[in-house]
Amino acid sequence: MTAPASPSPATPSGEVVMRTIAMPADTNNNGDIFGGWLVSQLDLGGAILARSTALSRVTTVAIDALTFHRPVAVGDIVTCYARLDRVGRTSMKIAVEAWVHRYSAADQQQVTSGHFTYVAIDGEGRPHPVKR
Ligand SMILES: CC(C)(COP(=O)(O)OP(=O)(O)OC[C@H]1O[C@@H](n2cnc3c(N)ncnc32)[C@H](O)[C@@H]1OP(=O)(O)O)[C@@H](O)C(=O)NCCC(=O)NCCS
Repeated sequence: MTAPASPSPATPSGEVVMRTIAMPADTNNNGDIFGGWLVSQLDLGGAILARSTALSRVTTVAIDALTFHRPVAVGDIVTCYARLDRVGRTSMKIAVEAWVHRYSAADQQQVTSGHFTYVAIDGEGRPHPVKR
């Protein structure tokens, strides 16, 4: 049995920003869910918190410390949690975690985590202050 990349915390950190079910169309050649799909879910989840913080358009400028702790299986309920860690002048650093509920388990398990940085942008795509 393969050990997880790092021990999973007992509880998620942050607020629920997205929930969905992992579907067969999003599998990789191992039959697990494709990592790119998960990154996309985390990015969307973080963007929801960034948008509601900046009350404007936002764009992702960086993704750091992305870790896939465990594989995601078809049928897992995937929940993304986001926590605002830092607000700069135009940027927001947001910690995002994905947790899954399996058919066979009562508790959810953390599968992925990372730090996403978003920039608040105006209608022309130029950075503008988060707090305007
Ligand atoms: C995001 C973007 C608007 C920033 O424009 P820019 O001219 O580089 O703006 P700045 O240099 O003023 O940086 C804006 C903020 O982003 C931060 N930033 C820039 N690059 C960063 C990086 N690699 N990591 C973390 N923060 C970064 C800056 O520190 C600054 O934060 P602050 O205002 O809170 O101090 C521009 O780079 C862009 O459009 N990138 C493409 C975004 C995109 O398409 N995302 C989707 C990916 S598919």
